[in-house]
Amino acid sequence: MNDYDVIVIGAGAAGLMFSGAISQKKSCLIIEANKSPGRKILISGGGRCNFTNLEVAPSHFESQNIHFSKSALKRYTNWDFIDLVANKNISYYEKKLGQLFCKNSAKDIVNLLMDKLSDNVTINYSEKVVDIKKNSDGYVIHTNKAEYHSKNVVVASGGLSLPSIGASDIGIKVGKNLGHKVIETSPSLVPLTLKGDELEMAKSLSGVSLEVNFHINNKIVRDDLLFTHKGISGPATLKGSLYWYPGDTVELDFVPDYTFEEIVKSGRKKNILNTLALYIPRKLAESISSEFQKQKVAELSKIELEKLKKLLKSYTVTPSGTEGYRKAEVTRGGLCTDKISSKTFESNLSPGMYFIGEVVDVTGLLGGYNFQWAWSSAIAAAQSFK
Ligand code: FDA
Repeated sequence: MNDYDVIVIGAGAAGLMFSGAISQKKSCLIIEANKSPGRKILISGGGRCNFTNLEVAPSHFESQNIHFSKSALKRYTNWDFIDLVANKNISYYEKKLGQLFCKNSAKDIVNLLMDKLSDNVTINYSEKVVDIKKNSDGYVIHTNKAEYHSKNVVVASGGLSLPSIGASDIGIKVGKNLGHKVIETSPSLVPLTLKGDELEMAKSLSGVSLEVNFHINNKIVRDDLLFTHKGISGPATLKGSLYWYPGDTVELDFVPDYTFEEIVKSGRKKNILNTLALYIPRKLAESISSEFQKQKVAELSKIELEKLKKLLKSYTVTPSGTEGYRKAEVTRGGLCTDKISSKTFESNLSPGMYFIGEVVDVTGLLGGYNFQWAWSSAIAAAQSFK
């Protein structure tokens, strides 16, 4: 028996947004593994939820099909969500680089989404979907507690990061069973680990933070980098990790605002350490200057100057891995977009089955882009839901 027009898997960002948008006209059951809604929203942005960005473009997203996100992002923009937030009188502010955060608490965003749900929506908490099967009538949803039937299913089960708060691979599994390709998944927006001498260097600098240009696979990320006991972290690394694949080398420019020649010129009469310490944190300056036997900048040979230039402007590390899903903000990869409609988010292989949010192979940069993708994909699916 089909009791609901649609069954939504996951009361996270995309699932709540979708359900709120259709709930005046359609009956909806949301099945959620956690005891409460929007757990990731609540912990996001240090508890203040970076809910979108002032500048959102398809170029802020990685996907095998870079065009897939365009339609949804155009139809439901960052300004639409900002209006929603403003109309609810939720105070927000721009932290930096267009990133918008709640002034009070991420709870404001969860409350906003929950307030949009009409009486047509039921949420079953603490219930985990374990399988979804197709039959002649639609879909059979098996959970750890019951079995449900529906002609329409919206999979909004998110990515794989933070399994401790409900993340699961159910969306990938369901998509795969229906014949969808899966783009290899990996932790992203995540600290990178180092090994050997590179790790020793990072350990000795643990806690040191500075603004860098982070060069990775022909992309340049400008932001703060933090050395840790495991390797490198901070926003520059998290952003850069979106473009990093095992084996790739990262090049760090520790003095992005200066040319090497400017630095050498300013230090002509000074010693190396004091010169470098004018531009970079002293601990890093000590580490770099310890590479040279000589004291003064003016004493350095041509070859030594080349070495100093490399250490300052193109310091290379080859990360051994990431800190994994336990530390990752998102999952890169996911269900391939080639058989999902970019307009309706319905599966081309299985009518009545929709995939929205992070489960799809669209991954945003750090800065509010992943929530914007959740909002935009959810509204696109809701608008076309008949
Ligand atoms: P989301 O994860 O929100 O929801 C999926 C829901 O499905 C969850 O509630 C889960 O419990 C449920 N579920 C999964 N499997 C299930 C099953 N088998 N049965 C039943 N329910 C199931 N992004 C951003 O733009 N700005 C930010 O500030 C941050 N900050 C941030 C911090 C941290 C620590 C993390 C881990 C992530 C972020 N993100 C972020 C990323 C952002 O949280 C993420 O991209 C969105 O929440 C994705 O929305 P979805 O609705 O797709 O998944």
